[in-house]
Amino acid sequence: MLNDTYQRSIDYLRISITDRCNLRCVYCMPEQGIPTWAHADILRYEEIERVVRAAAALGLRKIRLTGGEPLVRLGVVDLVRTLAHIPGIEAVTMTTNGMLLSRYAVPLAEAGLQRVNVSLDTLRPERFRAITRWGDLDTVLAGIEAAFAAGLTPLKINTVVIRGQNDDEVVALARRAMASGWHLRFIEWMPVGEAAQDHRWRAQVVTAAEIRARIEAALGPLEPVTVVGAGPARTYHLPGAPTTIGFISAVSEHFCGSCNRLRLTADGKLRPCLLSAEELDLRTPLRQGASEADIQALLQEAVRLKPQGHHLADDAYVQGRAMAQIGG
Ligand code: 5AD
Ligand code: SF4
Repeated sequence: MLNDTYQRSIDYLRISITDRCNLRCVYCMPEQGIPTWAHADILRYEEIERVVRAAAALGLRKIRLTGGEPLVRLGVVDLVRTLAHIPGIEAVTMTTNGMLLSRYAVPLAEAGLQRVNVSLDTLRPERFRAITRWGDLDTVLAGIEAAFAAGLTPLKINTVVIRGQNDDEVVALARRAMASGWHLRFIEWMPVGEAAQDHRWRAQVVTAAEIRARIEAALGPLEPVTVVGAGPARTYHLPGAPTTIGFISAVSEHFCGSCNRLRLTADGKLRPCLLSAEELDLRTPLRQGASEADIQALLQEAVRLKPQGHHLADDAYVQGRAMAQIGG
C-alpha cells in the first residue's frame, strides 16, 4: 500500500491526458485558450501505461482520466482498454465535459471504462453557451443520455457554482438530477491558474454551506449518506431520493484529511496536491529508461511529499498551471 506521512492511504491516480480542450469555460480559460504544449512534451500512452503498471503493483487501485478534455485526444479508447486490463486496477473512470460523449460512450464502456463524471453548470441553453463559450447544452445532454444508456453509471454531474452566473439554478439542478438519475456534486470554485487573478470569481464563490441551505429551504432536509469512495465530496440525499447530492469545497471546508490521490499531468509531472505547486518530474526518467522500481521510487516520493493540508491564504492562488493543465 502507498501510505503517506499522515496515515492516508493513496489508492487513486488522476491522469490528465491532454491540456487541450474543446470548450473555453469562463472560469477556467480565456477565450483564446492557454498556450498548448508540444506533442513531444505530452506523455505517450505507452509511458502512461508504464506508470500505471508500476503504481498498481504498489497498491494503486483506481484511475481517473481527465484533461483538458480527455476525449479530444486520439486513441483514448485504446488507452482505457489498456489501463482497465492492468492487474490490480479495479476501476478506470473519466471526467469529461460531455461534448463528445454521444460518439464515445459505447466504445468507452466496451473498452472497460466504468463511470463518467460530466461537467454541467446550467440547464439553460444560452447560459450554457455563455459559460462554456463554445459548448452546446443539447449536445452535452445527449452525451449524458448516451453514457447512461451505455451503463457508465453511477453517473455524476459536476457543477461549479458561481454567484450571479448559475447560483439561481442550484435547486433546479438538484430536481433535474433526481428525476434523471444523476448524482450531483456542487463544486466550490477554486483559485487555480491565471483565471484566479480575475477577481470576479473569487468575489463570487458560493460556499457549500450556502448551496446546501438553499436546497434544504426549497426541497427539505438533506440526510448525510456514507458513500464508499466518495473522495472529497460530502454526500447527502433527500429522504427517499434515488440519487445523492454532494458538495466539494476545497477551500471553505477543506477535505485534506481524507485525500487519497496523486495526480499525473499530461506533461509527465507527478503532483502530490492539487493546491500546492510542488511537482516531481516523471517524464525525464521515463524517457531515460527508468525501470519499474525507479518509477515506483518516484511514486513513493510523491506520496511522501503530500502535504498534510493546503496553505492557500485568503487571496492567494495556485500559480504555474491552469486547471486544464492539472486535470482538476
Ligand atoms: N474551480 C473548481 N472547479 C473547476 N473546474 C474547472 N475549473 C475549476 C475551478 N477553478 C471543474 C470543471 C470540471 C472539473 C474537472 O473541474 O468544471 O467539472
Ligand atoms: Fe475545458 Fe473543463 Fe476548462 Fe471547461 S473547465 S474549459 S471543459 S478544461
